[in-house]
Amino acid sequence: MSNDRVYIFDTTLRDGEQSPGASMNTGEKLRLATQLEKLGVDVIEAGFPAASEGDFEAVSRIAQKLTQCEVAGLARASKHDIDRAWGAVQHAAKPKIHTFIATSDIHLEYKLKMSREEVLKNAVEAVKYAKSFTDSVEFSAEDGSRSDRDFLCKIFGAAIEAGATVVNLPDTVGYAIPSEFGELVRYVIENTPNMHKAILSVHCHNDLGLATANTIAAISNGARQAEVTINGIGERAGNTSLEEVVMAIHTRGNYLPVNTNIQTQYIHPSSRLVSMITGMMVQPNKAIVGANAFAHEAGIHQDGMLKNPMTYEIMRPETVGLNRSTLVLGKHSGRHALRSRLKDMGYDLSDEELKMVFERFKDLADKKKHVVDEDLEVIVTEGILRIADIFKLEYIHVTCGNTVMPMASIKMSINGRSVKDADYGNGPIDAAFNAIAKLTGAESELLRFSVSALTGGTDAQGEVTVRLRENGLMALGKGADPDIITASAKAYINGLNRLEYLKTHPVETREML
Ligand code: KIV
Ligand code: ZN
Repeated sequence: MSNDRVYIFDTTLRDGEQSPGASMNTGEKLRLATQLEKLGVDVIEAGFPAASEGDFEAVSRIAQKLTQCEVAGLARASKHDIDRAWGAVQHAAKPKIHTFIATSDIHLEYKLKMSREEVLKNAVEAVKYAKSFTDSVEFSAEDGSRSDRDFLCKIFGAAIEAGATVVNLPDTVGYAIPSEFGELVRYVIENTPNMHKAILSVHCHNDLGLATANTIAAISNGARQAEVTINGIGERAGNTSLEEVVMAIHTRGNYLPVNTNIQTQYIHPSSRLVSMITGMMVQPNKAIVGANAFAHEAGIHQDGMLKNPMTYEIMRPETVGLNRSTLVLGKHSGRHALRSRLKDMGYDLSDEELKMVFERFKDLADKKKHVVDEDLEVIVTEGILRIADIFKLEYIHVTCGNTVMPMASIKMSINGRSVKDADYGNGPIDAAFNAIAKLTGAESELLRFSVSALTGGTDAQGEVTVRLRENGLMALGKGADPDIITASAKAYINGLNRLEYLKTHPVETREML
């Protein structure tokens, strides 16, 4: 195992999915997993199979589909969870079990009500049990950064002896400071028995905005696996963002003489896909993937850029897949060109699916001169990945203006049955939402509503995000269309579908972790 290789363990589908409102259905998870494999991650943590039937099903479908990267299932340190994790990943080309138990005194006393000796015994048994199924076993010491460092070394040493190939040190509550965390990593490497037989991994949360800095400090001090998510999504303030760690390594090779297997040109498309599927927008000033990450506003900067881009740009946008010259499709493009473009993007569609996408593509090409990858991604996400939706929009007609009372007539299908109604509102979007609420009986509260443009140009599709809450459940919804009122209606309906999904697929993950 080469010492300058940093393994990228992606947990967008597990910790990322724990972001409030960011639930994904199985089709969406499969699509994202395919994209992550193309991006070149080494491990995909596909979910927590013991958490729900839905999680189990998604992890096993992903395990059966992927051929290149390891597919991990998360399990608490119990036989039941490990059986579920193995049940889900067993058919993977490269299966992995990731088992964990908390090690900090505060977790032991208040959460687990166990002594250190009991936790140690439990961890060893869990690793041995997982090892009876597969060679590839990772052990995590939850709340590791707040654990006694000698106990940490002891439990890691015991886990390695029991067969763990990776031991993971999480900063579960995002409490660490980079210099402190780097020093802890060095201490663990130097004081854990047989550390050379395993990889030391880190998993940081972003509660103080330090997840990337902590991960980089850990790598500088010898950690060789980084657990990350696309766009940094995850529990509370999120996890370390994949793109930030990868591009820090890529850009600062002089300071960080290590490498990853990430194909950086797929970073931006992966980021777009995650935000489209989860409904979580990326903040415009987000490093690497934010809309402004490569935008130069100040005149003096623009002047420098024209003379030599390196004056103000430390990375080229095309390195992360922005401004890459993609094949642009237009209304004269045929089915064959569309299939081939979709294949390049990672979609292998059946003839029937292609027919449906082609029809929507032609529709869009009539309204918009150039159809680019982002547009196609929306068509497939809305048309295929969300196929199991209960609520679907069939048509929307709105009258508005400064002299009429805005009114919307909506026709929807609800569980395959067509229904229609109309309502008024303060504006056309309000009217559309009122009509949809009437038809669906929705009682959710609209917490957030935002509109942006999917691509450049006045004919760009408007992209709308809504955040809904009902009885403690929270869901994000996303919709895109050249017409922003239609995009809003689609987003609202998507949010309602996600709420329905949450009602019927209860996930106990939050209580379990
Ligand atoms: O944050 C954490 O500690 C985790 C573990 C399960 C690795 O997500
Ligand atoms: Zn975590």
